[in-house]
Amino acid sequence: MGILQKHKVLEKNATLLLIFSLLVVTIGGIVEIAPLFYLQNTIEKVSGMRPYSPLELTGRDIYIREGCYVCHSQMIRPMRDEVERYGHYSLAAESMYDHPFQWGSKRTGPDLARVGGRYSDQWHVEHLADPQSVVPESVMPKYGFLLDRPVDTQDLQAKLAVHREVGVPYTDDDIKNALADFSAQADPDADPTDLQTRYPKAQNRNFDGRPGISEMDALVAYLQVLGTMVDFSTFEPDQTR
Ligand code: HEC
Repeated sequence: MGILQKHKVLEKNATLLLIFSLLVVTIGGIVEIAPLFYLQNTIEKVSGMRPYSPLELTGRDIYIREGCYVCHSQMIRPMRDEVERYGHYSLAAESMYDHPFQWGSKRTGPDLARVGGRYSDQWHVEHLADPQSVVPESVMPKYGFLLDRPVDTQDLQAKLAVHREVGVPYTDDDIKNALADFSAQADPDADPTDLQTRYPKAQNRNFDGRPGISEMDALVAYLQVLGTMVDFSTFEPDQTR
């Protein structure tokens, strides 16, 4: 019997075909999955990544609460059109302190993984308050109410503690000083030394340009740090993997 004849036996017997199909899929699955068990680490080593500061973390929660992820991804794929538009493709390390990660799966608006530093704070405030005033054809909703909502800081320390619980390396010191760091980052007159010792390069200023710390301050502080942490001048992609 030739190989084609033998195959005919399989094709004519549904049960046999099912069994052999399952066998083939199992082998394929093992070949794909087994090597992953032997990798020490799937997150590349980079310099510059740090946990979010309390103000940035608060902004991140507002981003999630308002459903920004429904329209925005935070994941630049290593394809040329994406890299030319958004910058260096996203690294696993850049999401390692994100719980849950914000990769998203829908781009009604642009990817935001590297939006940090691309626009001024004022641009963000105007755009969030009234997207159509900046981009007339925009379908993005208005978020001006964030300007009038003071941040509820009651659970700030608990928030950091919970993130430590799931693996973000916040120290006791970070948690103890959460409120001080939170206030210092939104106050351009505050001494940022302590804040920046705990959160290197944390930018401190009045993000929404108004007195008091609003949810807008927190959200803009978060947007402005996105994609800016990793030092790409020292980053070398690992070609051995
Ligand atoms: C209904 C979908 C939708 C939602 C929800 C949404 N956006 Fe957008 N966003 C857009 C679209 C479309 C654009 C492109 C046009 C524009 O700039 O307004 C955009 C643009 C942006 C930009 C400018 C990006 C760039 O590179 O030019 C930022 C920043 C932004 N959105 C932030 C947010 C934040 C923060 C939230 C949540 C508070 C949010 N968006 C919610 C649709 C949305």
